Amino acid sequence: MAIREIVKIEDPILRKKSREVTEFNQKLHTLLEDMFETMYKADGCGLAAPQIGLLRRVIVVDCGKGKIEMINPKILEMHGEIGGVEGCLSVPGKHGHVMRAEKIKVEFYTRSGEKKVKVYREFEARALQHEIDHLDGILYIDRATKEFDD
Ligand code: CO
Repeated sequence: MAIREIVKIEDPILRKKSREVTEFNQKLHTLLEDMFETMYKADGCGLAAPQIGLLRRVIVVDCGKGKIEMINPKILEMHGEIGGVEGCLSVPGKHGHVMRAEKIKVEFYTRSGEKKVKVYREFEARALQHEIDHLDGILYIDRATKEFDD
């Protein structure tokens, strides 16, 4: 396992669209382990592959309720709307107020290539929407209604 460097807001890679993963191999498993390690080290609760300079549709989240890892995630349904504060490891020193769906249904693949559909709520739903946005080159600051420095 290894800590990867987190790219910052100035890096144009954060604005690019990530490609789907087609091979569920050891390289992917190593990537997931590295992403978790990098996220925990940086004290974050979510990380998307483009944030470590890799344009692949892979995200990890841990909002204190356990590890979530998703390959090729797709939001199938969004319900409700709720405001909350978000930050991003690629946008250091800032936070912003963002409206998100309160509950989402997500389709994704596991590291072994198994397709799953799950429902997430509250913090996990917010973190997942934030990370899935990263896969399409969208940052939370694009959606924030209010921004403030830490
Ligand atoms: Co982020």
